[in-house]
Amino acid sequence: MIDAVNYWWEVDGVRDDLTDPRTSSSEIVQEFLPSSRVVKAFNHMGYHDLDTGARPAGAVGRRAIAVAGDARKDVAAVAAVVDALGFDPVFAVPLAEGVRMQPGTDLFGATTDAAEVRRLLEHFPASTAGKALLAARRAAQRGRARPPSSAATATAGRRARSGPRDRPVPPAHGGSSCAASPGAADRGCS
Ligand SMILES: NC(=O)c1ccc[n+]([C@@H]2O[C@H](COP(=O)([O-])OP(=O)(O)OC[C@H]3O[C@@H](n4cnc5c(N)ncnc54)[C@H](OP(=O)(O)O)[C@@H]3O)[C@@H](O)[C@H]2O)c1
Repeated sequence: MIDAVNYWWEVDGVRDDLTDPRTSSSEIVQEFLPSSRVVKAFNHMGYHDLDTGARPAGAVGRRAIAVAGDARKDVAAVAAVVDALGFDPVFAVPLAEGVRMQPGTDLFGATTDAAEVRRLLEHFPASTAGKALLAARRAAQRGRARPPSSAATATAGRRARSGPRDRPVPPAHGGSSCAASPGAADRGCS
């Protein structure tokens, strides 16, 4: 299942689960669809650019779409869709790394080539959005997260049913994030 959604509070309303720094929106989608294999793609580019920005493979300045997923074959399958639709896929595995392309990140809204998409993914921990996320995750890990509201409690309940979801804080550099070229999966990134 290709997840292109973005949490947009003006439309969706303020939701504690979708603002929980420990979880990307795609992980919430995956949790909601347990029998599906979710891959995040197409979310960071607006529909006008998706419509008019397609170019043949190898074209100079071909724009790129970041692809995040947990299973190598699923990421490869979605990358093939991205390529077939006229864009260069750039891997940002695992699915949790979808935070690097959510609204508020430097990549969100970018319509640029693979090198720049890769750079933006790798730069995320040093970006304003990345620093804020890392700080929030550290605070949450230290148990200094905000008091649970009803929505947060519901999220915690879902987590309790599906097992622990806490993840290590992402590295402060892009090196081990596997934000990399389409060959990343072949290098064991997924
Ligand atoms: N627009 C873009 O440029 C763009 C680009 C990339 C990603 N995205 C993301 O893609 C998603 C959809 O964007 P969009 O522009 O296609 O929005 P949209 O035109 O408003 O379409 C939203 C769709 O979701 C359905 N929907 C809303 N609430 C629902 C619910 N509770 N249960 C079931 N279906 C529901 C709506 O159904 P009804 O028609 O019946 O109301 C509608 O078909 C968003 O998360 C957006 O951030 C958008």
